[in-house]
Amino acid sequence: MRWKKTELADMQMGSFFLLAILAFGLVLNVSANTEVEVLYAWKANLIDPNNVLQSWDATLANPCTWLHVTCNGDNNLVRIDLGKANLSGPLIPQLGQLSNLMYLELYDNNISGAIPIELGNLIKLVSLDLFSNRLSGHIPDSLGNLQRLRFLRLNNNSLSGSIPRSLTTIATLQVLDLSSNHLTGDIPINGSFAFFTPMSFRNNPGLKPQKFPPPPPMFQIAPTPSAKGPSSS
Ligand SMILES: *[C@@H]1O[C@H](CO)[C@@H](O)[C@H](O)[C@H]1NC(C)=O
Ligand SMILES: *[C@@H]1O[C@H](CO)[C@@H](O)[C@H](O)[C@H]1NC(C)=O
Ligand SMILES: *[C@@H]1O[C@H](CO)[C@@H](O)[C@H](O)[C@H]1NC(C)=O
Ligand SMILES: *[C@@H]1O[C@H](CO)[C@@H](O)[C@H](O)[C@H]1NC(C)=O
Repeated sequence: MRWKKTELADMQMGSFFLLAILAFGLVLNVSANTEVEVLYAWKANLIDPNNVLQSWDATLANPCTWLHVTCNGDNNLVRIDLGKANLSGPLIPQLGQLSNLMYLELYDNNISGAIPIELGNLIKLVSLDLFSNRLSGHIPDSLGNLQRLRFLRLNNNSLSGSIPRSLTTIATLQVLDLSSNHLTGDIPINGSFAFFTPMSFRNNPGLKPQKFPPPPPMFQIAPTPSAKGPSSS
């Protein structure tokens, strides 16, 4: 069977369009998966001398077959397990878009820079383990939004500033370790912090020791207005 020239040209045109549609669909598909996009963007920011992120391939429809991540039955990312992976580089704000994440395990690496405020968007997080890295800056207030958090370990970094009061509102918090940082100010004692011992806070030379709860109001001497410092409000 022979093809006329015009038919051949039509077929070439047709297959060109088919390929174009396929390629476009592939691009759409990739950009439609936020988790792939976010993790691949983070990978691009990391130094990975041991190639632990080799399987992180941006052309896949979801990250569920990659190593060091776990998905649930709906192919949503729920865990990142990259403890002791010898990674260097920052955390990126886009990590806050991994909205199904329950476990973020990044301890014992060489991760530097600040803890992004956006991590406070990961409201399903149960465990945030960033200990033994080189993180600096303040602990974001926004982490108080993580109302399902049970494990918060930020110890052995270079974090500074005060402990956000918002953390006291996380009623689920069972394990807290902020030790070996450069935190300053008072240690909260109310809310979930009533259960934590000095072990959670040691080796922060600028942190004031925990005070005993104040006596009930009837025994407190009301401060005279003149004893108050300049109003900060
Ligand atoms: C970690 O990476 C550094 C380079 O950044 C390399 O010199 C060192 O050998 C690696 N350590 C391990 C335990 O793989
Ligand atoms: C840690 O990361 C810094 C860059 O942020 C790099 O200069 C240093 O070599 C890294 N150290 C190791 C042990 O990988
Ligand atoms: C944290 O730092 C302290 C003091 O330098 C050290 O004794 C401890 O072993 C470190 N812990 C971890 C988990 O690296
Ligand atoms: C603990 O006290 C601080 C003020 O010092 C407040 O902002 C915070 O909401 C309190 N936490 C709880 C759980 O009541």
